[in-house]
Amino acid sequence: MNQAVILAGGHGKRMKAEIPKPMLEVLDVPMLGWVIRACEKAEVSRICVVTGYKAEFIECYLNGAYETALQSERLGTGHAVMQAEKFLKADAEGHTLVLCGDAPFMDSDTIRAALELHTAQNNAVTVITAELADPKGYGRIIRSESDGIAAIVEEKDASLAQKKITEVNSGAYWFRTADLLELLGGLTPQNAQGEYYLTDTIGLALSRGLRAGVYLTENTDVILGANTRKDLLHLRETARRKILDHHMENGVDFTCIEGVVIGTEVEIEAGTVIQPGTILKGKTKIGRGCKIGPNCLIEDTVIGEHCVLNAVQAYSSVIENNVKIGPFVHIRPNSRIRSGVKIGDFVEVKNSVIGEQTSIAHLTYVGDSDVGRKVNFGCGTVTVNYDGISKQRCEIGDSCFIGCNTNLIAPVKLGQGVYTAAGSTITKDVPDYALAVERGTLKVKEGYSLRKLRTRLFPGEKEGK
Ligand code: UD1
Ligand code: CA
Repeated sequence: MNQAVILAGGHGKRMKAEIPKPMLEVLDVPMLGWVIRACEKAEVSRICVVTGYKAEFIECYLNGAYETALQSERLGTGHAVMQAEKFLKADAEGHTLVLCGDAPFMDSDTIRAALELHTAQNNAVTVITAELADPKGYGRIIRSESDGIAAIVEEKDASLAQKKITEVNSGAYWFRTADLLELLGGLTPQNAQGEYYLTDTIGLALSRGLRAGVYLTENTDVILGANTRKDLLHLRETARRKILDHHMENGVDFTCIEGVVIGTEVEIEAGTVIQPGTILKGKTKIGRGCKIGPNCLIEDTVIGEHCVLNAVQAYSSVIENNVKIGPFVHIRPNSRIRSGVKIGDFVEVKNSVIGEQTSIAHLTYVGDSDVGRKVNFGCGTVTVNYDGISKQRCEIGDSCFIGCNTNLIAPVKLGQGVYTAAGSTITKDVPDYALAVERGTLKVKEGYSLRKLRTRLFPGEKEGK
């Protein structure tokens, strides 16, 4: 069977990262995740990831879904593949794809096409290469007289003439598995870096009378790796633009793409407008005719049709059709905002259902609540859902009118059409169509403040005259 070994043991010193380099994200997926997806898409699903630096982060990410092999010392790419020996020997019949965990744009088309050439030419190894205008940092491809490959020379080992070669090694290869196992045994660390180079398998194969070939790809993106933070930013920008192009082809409108970042799994329907500063993440889905932004951050949230969201953060929630939210609104996980709802500035909703056409215009917190249809929240309403130990729910019936500055002390239930007087602190259930007033009676003490004012404003005078 065909299988893949993904090299992810390197440290990425120049990144100065606290996590392994392949775990750094491009959009919302670690680079390693992109590489695994490409393998899966090319139907190479028997995968071994070679870990090393801070292996626990990669183990945690893979969560047992793929095999791993630990490289405890970082002795080069050849040494890294050696660590997967057990994995390779378990199925040595077919071919093995070796990929770098830090080159996220390797794609399934390239993987498939390279394998086709590899098997058609009956090669022991086939290197995926590309022509780069700026080949700096990459291993250079030395061609043989017959236009085959003779060797790969690393930048650090290259002569001036070799450095001028623009065809480079992507770091991705197909090997006949049985030959790979043989060739690994022949590697030595005799080079500028004192490492076991996987690239030396080319020369070794040729010296043993085996065939080595090249698959030269036109898609130079598949080569792009990240050695520095600047490279990483370049990868992110490349991915971002590709995704924006894809949405534009689908009829999504962007007024300006400054600060617009859309994750790989986000779906948006035609006719929706995305405005600057908007970040869409995870499995977010947006229906047609919406206006999202400026400055929205939306994660794992499903939004219906014709919604308007301005300066909204929303997480793991559902927003139905014709909803208007913002500015400065926080929709926290597990909320359902039903059709026709209006939510205005400085409102937070958490773990609640807001019924159709309800209006929450300003400065309000709705947490752990079930709210009916056509409810009107006065400014400053607070559902008091937490007593310091446990959270309780509030229930608010259809058509309630909640006065400004009402506190609803959960658990509490307002029936249908209930009115609460402004400033009330509601501690008990209220039946349908009642008015609830729960506040102190007004007391007026005439002239009381005059004494106080005099002392404050004219401290030299005696009080009490
Ligand atoms: C390697 C190739 C180079 C190619 C380039 C493409 C070699 C000797 N050179 O160079 O020809 O142009 O990739 O990006 O192979 N890794 C380990 N363990 C190690 C060393 C590396 O797991 O001991 C992993 C890294 O995490 C990374 C990959 O292997 O994912 C490539 O390693 P890196 O050090 O970036 O190789 P380059 O020097 O860039
Ligand atoms: Ca590299």
